[in-house]
Amino acid sequence: MDVSYFYGTAGEIDAASLYRLLSLRSRVFVVARRQPWLDPDGRDIEPGTAHLWAEQDGVAVSTLRLTEEGDGLLRMGRVCTLLSHRRQGHATVLVRHALVLAGPRPVISDVYARSADWFTRRGFEPRGGRTVVDGEPHTSIRHVPAARRAPAPSGGSGPGHRGGGYVPAWAST
Ligand SMILES: CC(C)(COP(=O)(O)OP(=O)(O)OC[C@H]1O[C@@H](n2cnc3c(N)ncnc32)[C@H](O)[C@@H]1OP(=O)(O)O)[C@@H](O)C(=O)NCCC(=O)NCCS
Repeated sequence: MDVSYFYGTAGEIDAASLYRLLSLRSRVFVVARRQPWLDPDGRDIEPGTAHLWAEQDGVAVSTLRLTEEGDGLLRMGRVCTLLSHRRQGHATVLVRHALVLAGPRPVISDVYARSADWFTRRGFEPRGGRTVVDGEPHTSIRHVPAARRAPAPSGGSGPGHRGGGYVPAWAST
């Protein structure tokens, strides 16, 4: 079963695709958590917001979004995978794609504290903040591109920017 990866702004993707992404997010962030919460917060349709997602057999199985926060800063959010499709690497691919799209721009995120380790294993680092939103502890994290890092004092390469050298799936199309 082939998996295809897509990205685009709300203005670029069709209504059915956007509907499927919002539906997937509602399943994960509202229904599964049994937490009334307005997931479509208005930022999905901002011109600078990019949606990335994985599709298998016409079903959106994983997604994330990148929003512009000003001054070249990006925010990654709504990272989720359908329960039945987890641990197959979909979210990892999307995060890597997002970091390629971000290029030299730093990416910040506020993630469930219980998921923070997942992100640090993918090149993010804690940035000190912890908040509780609707009873759920969140950790603030950021990804700073390797080019913007101070050189490692010992000559080591430091924590990895995993996007380096990565050719995104859409580069050849
Ligand atoms: C966190 C979340 C997005 C991960 O999605 P996912 O698509 O399952 O992620 P991946 O498959 O890329 O990675 C999951 C793990 O499976 C492993 N994996 C990847 N491919 C695999 C494979 N073929 N076989 C077995 N394991 C595999 C990865 O190494 C990773 O392991 P790690 O946690 O030790 O790093 C998903 O669990 C989720 O939606 N959670 C609820 C919402 C959430 O917490 N969102 C993030 C914070 S707001």
